[in-house]
Amino acid sequence: MKIAQFKVEEWMNRYESSAKYDLTTTCIKPLSIQDLCGFAPPEILTKPLTYGDITGSDKLKGEIAKLYSNTELKNITITHGAIGANQLVFLSLLEKGDEVVSIVPTYQQHYSIPEAFGANVKLLFLKESNNWLPNIEELENAVTRKTKLLCLNNPNNPTGAVIPDEMLKQIAEIAQENNIWVLSDEVYRGLNLEGNPYSVSFADIYEKGISVGSMSKTYSLPGLRVGWIAAREDLIDDINKQRQYNTISVSILDDYFASVALKNKDWIAERNFKILKEGYSILKDWTEFEPYIKCILPQGGTTALLRLRKNIPSKKFCYDLQKATGVALLPGETMEMEGHVRLGFCAENLKEALITISEFLS
Ligand SMILES: Cc1ncc(COP(=O)(O)O)c(C=O)c1O
Repeated sequence: MKIAQFKVEEWMNRYESSAKYDLTTTCIKPLSIQDLCGFAPPEILTKPLTYGDITGSDKLKGEIAKLYSNTELKNITITHGAIGANQLVFLSLLEKGDEVVSIVPTYQQHYSIPEAFGANVKLLFLKESNNWLPNIEELENAVTRKTKLLCLNNPNNPTGAVIPDEMLKQIAEIAQENNIWVLSDEVYRGLNLEGNPYSVSFADIYEKGISVGSMSKTYSLPGLRVGWIAAREDLIDDINKQRQYNTISVSILDDYFASVALKNKDWIAERNFKILKEGYSILKDWTEFEPYIKCILPQGGTTALLRLRKNIPSKKFCYDLQKATGVALLPGETMEMEGHVRLGFCAENLKEALITISEFLS
């Protein structure tokens, strides 16, 4: 199967590790095993390193089920990160010729994998003029009775927009009228800056809603490589059929520490919200005085999309910036958003990095 280059991963692979200030990151300072050991009984040290429970331990699934209002263990399967979860959903649902609508900008999996399967993919672009929220009328016009799958990402990477719960319900109604599956990538769920940190989840509001979650962002454990899918039981069964060919089980260490982390998610949330709010406030102050940048401030997640008020290709801008200053940003071109750059506002040394960008811009 031929597939397009994953442009964000390609760029990060090349430039992230050499950055002095890494603002390409979407993670909130990752936790260590030592952090988690404070919560974990020592039983893991004596556990044989077998494959573990094939679709994930009941302990872990039980903790994940608590993140939803309408979900039991049979509605969950554990995956190799959200990246593995998304892939399994596409593998299980899509065939050549299927119609898919994907709301962009988003994680590239959501259009490039369907395209690689030979699906007809329509891209529905979020607009700055609409605060990066979906336009419901445009969505109604984009889907048809032939659409099989709608893909969205909420809170959104890269814009940081959070779709209000009421609008999520409207989207679910449109999907229901047209009998469409909805893949809702919710890896930043739990990181809304205002109101309830958790938006409603698609798996809870719509029978054909598929929610993808992960330990990587909200829970600061990208190194565990644990994600999950929450959906109705028959789809989870189909997904597990595919999953047997590419996962067997996640590591029992990952499964164990993910369940420990979720059991202590209030502690993680308190720690992460401090970092999130501090980063947001630094970003807000900076965008207010920086004349060469326009930014709709994020409402959640860990990233913001900045419009460059200079007519310069985003890749050239990011390359020149990093070469001159060591600050790494992600070019909009890698997310089909030329003229913009993505900034991770939970990055370390954010203030210093932003001052450095301003000096470069001026
Ligand atoms: C929207 C989105 N989905 C999925 C992923 C993959 O996450 P994971 O680390 O859980 O595989 C990312 C990672 O940046 C992401 O931003």
